[in-house]
Amino acid sequence: MPKILVSGGTGYIGSHAVVELLGKGMEVVIVDNLSNSEIEVLDGIKSITGKSPHFEEVDLKDRKATYGVFEKHPDISAIIHFAAYKAVGESVEKPLDYYENNLLSLIHLLEAMKIYKVDHLVFSSSCTIYGEPDHLPVTEDAPLKKATSPYGNTKQICEDILQDTMKSVEGKGVISLRYFNPIGAHPSAKIGELPLGVPNNLVPFITQTAAGLREYLSIFGDDYNTPDGSAIRDYINVVDLAKAHVRAIGRLLEGKQKSSFEVFNLGTGRGVSVFEIIKSFEKATNQKLNYKVVGRREGDIEKVYADTSFANAELGWKAEKGLEETLQSAWRWEMKIRSNKMKK
Ligand code: UFG
Repeated sequence: MPKILVSGGTGYIGSHAVVELLGKGMEVVIVDNLSNSEIEVLDGIKSITGKSPHFEEVDLKDRKATYGVFEKHPDISAIIHFAAYKAVGESVEKPLDYYENNLLSLIHLLEAMKIYKVDHLVFSSSCTIYGEPDHLPVTEDAPLKKATSPYGNTKQICEDILQDTMKSVEGKGVISLRYFNPIGAHPSAKIGELPLGVPNNLVPFITQTAAGLREYLSIFGDDYNTPDGSAIRDYINVVDLAKAHVRAIGRLLEGKQKSSFEVFNLGTGRGVSVFEIIKSFEKATNQKLNYKVVGRREGDIEKVYADTSFANAELGWKAEKGLEETLQSAWRWEMKIRSNKMKK
């Protein structure tokens, strides 16, 4: 069975992908510097799968340490590269940290692929690179808009680096997966998202508000050109998203790529407004949510949702879980975090 290096494997999406890979019998080497995750995530992974991934606490900005992982595991067949800084607002405050971390990590992995003869990489990209799209649903060939944050720019630059690198080598393949809005947690509530401090993203803010940690949710604008005035996104269950990575790895290892650099949108194909999320959350969990409409958040776009037909046809993958089920999983996870905190 292939051995897969998963950078950022103790993070939110990474940990769910590790569970799916282990479930398919693959061996996993997690590389993570624990800058935005906790080592206990490994217990959650083990408890769900009955298996333990290898774990290397390494910062990918450190070239020597990165190479060291490949020296220790000479039989790695492919890489899934999740590890990156991802907070839009923080990236505006600390742009150099974002460029340094997100670009160097990728460059060091690409160097190592050359030296240690690893042929395949799956990259975590984002729909943020489409900006406000001219046509919806957005397809993979839509023109990329100028990034509105350093974070978004790092994703664009990383895709450029990957594309250029693929032109200069033979026999290697990269798949870039453009995530829409990942939400929810594993149905077991043993792994999920662990936001540090005040969450930036909608669903963790909702669950923390319902749990009494925050007074109310601020809805960033109800004057958009959408049916109810709130902004529209494509919210995808994190387990569905994780499964797409197993498909992408399979495609690479089986040599099914049509070109050495491929891009797939990963979403549900359905646009959902902020008000709709709140209603679904209340219905799914029987919780009443306090909220207030406030002004628009700078840099937010009005609406974006994915055309997923390419991923459906080529990866043989489709998002399956419904919104209420997904929001229930987010709520179960919030309850679990709270009860763990009480025990500590
Ligand atoms: N929102 C609120 N109140 C909040 C938080 C969010 O109303 O407290 C709204 C936002 O305005 C937006 C929607 O909820 O309309 C979703 O916001 P998120 O912050 O959860 O997600 P974004 O779509 O802004 O950002 C996500 C990822 C980014 C990525 C971006 C690409 O978090 O990493 O998608 O569009 F860059």
